[in-house]
Amino acid sequence: MKIISNVEELRLEIKKLNAQKDGTIGLVPTMGALHKGHLSLIEKARSENQIAIVSVFVNPTQFGPNEDYDKYPRTLEADAKLCENAGVDFLFAPKPADIYDEYYFQNKETTLICPPYEVVNKLCGKSRPGHFDGVCTIVAKLFNITKCNRAYFGQKDAQQLFIVQKMVKDLNFDIEIIACPIVREDDNLALSSRNTYLDEKARCEALNISKALFKAKELFDKGIKESAILVDTALAVMQNLDVEYTEIVSLDTFEKIDIIEKKALMLIAARVSSNGSTVRLIDNIEL
Ligand code: PAF
Repeated sequence: MKIISNVEELRLEIKKLNAQKDGTIGLVPTMGALHKGHLSLIEKARSENQIAIVSVFVNPTQFGPNEDYDKYPRTLEADAKLCENAGVDFLFAPKPADIYDEYYFQNKETTLICPPYEVVNKLCGKSRPGHFDGVCTIVAKLFNITKCNRAYFGQKDAQQLFIVQKMVKDLNFDIEIIACPIVREDDNLALSSRNTYLDEKARCEALNISKALFKAKELFDKGIKESAILVDTALAVMQNLDVEYTEIVSLDTFEKIDIIEKKALMLIAARVSSNGSTVRLIDNIEL
């Protein structure tokens, strides 16, 4: 496996390897601090493509001014070992200056991809203005840099997945987006790089997020189709949490629904206090 930080070098190396292998390229875009959730994406990318690329880049344009950009876990050495063992061909780990130009660092502005307002101004996008512009921009840049045929995204970031799929369609990227299921700990906590922030008490409290989702799903499976009842049930389980949103949306449109008649998603974002700061966690379940 080659670890590369420079865009031109990566392009050249991909070209060389592609000349030998002449096959599809699979990309797993990540911000590092890799866990079993990422590994499931990497394994899928490895098994479905001749060339497997993982990018590790904590992307500044998707973080708001008061978010955790500076303290986001950076564990490149450990990430590289995991990627090497998983048979990755290239680990692309650029620095911000490899990705954004001088103009960006001077003016804090760059060319952005902005998904439609209605799609971003809800759920995670509501409390994180500009977040999905940053996500779409870096994802599009990674698509252009790697010229991948397939890109792998986790369903835990469900709104991100929906928005990336929409961007690919709207901008005619010739790329297949592969959605990969949420990976959970044995006690059902959804894996997330931000779980490393959780102290013991916070981790215990955070378990109520998945408990709430599974409780709502249980009721749904018993025939309750009213969103309001399912949301109230989930909120009752999360009384000790600072819940940002609990919503049920259509899986096809991501629009809020009152009665579940087609495939739907219940999504939760909540904050827990840990080690003197606040950790924001998200999770979801299909109904
Ligand atoms: O989901 C993430 O880790 C990031 O949002 C992504 C897709 C790698 C873009 O920075």
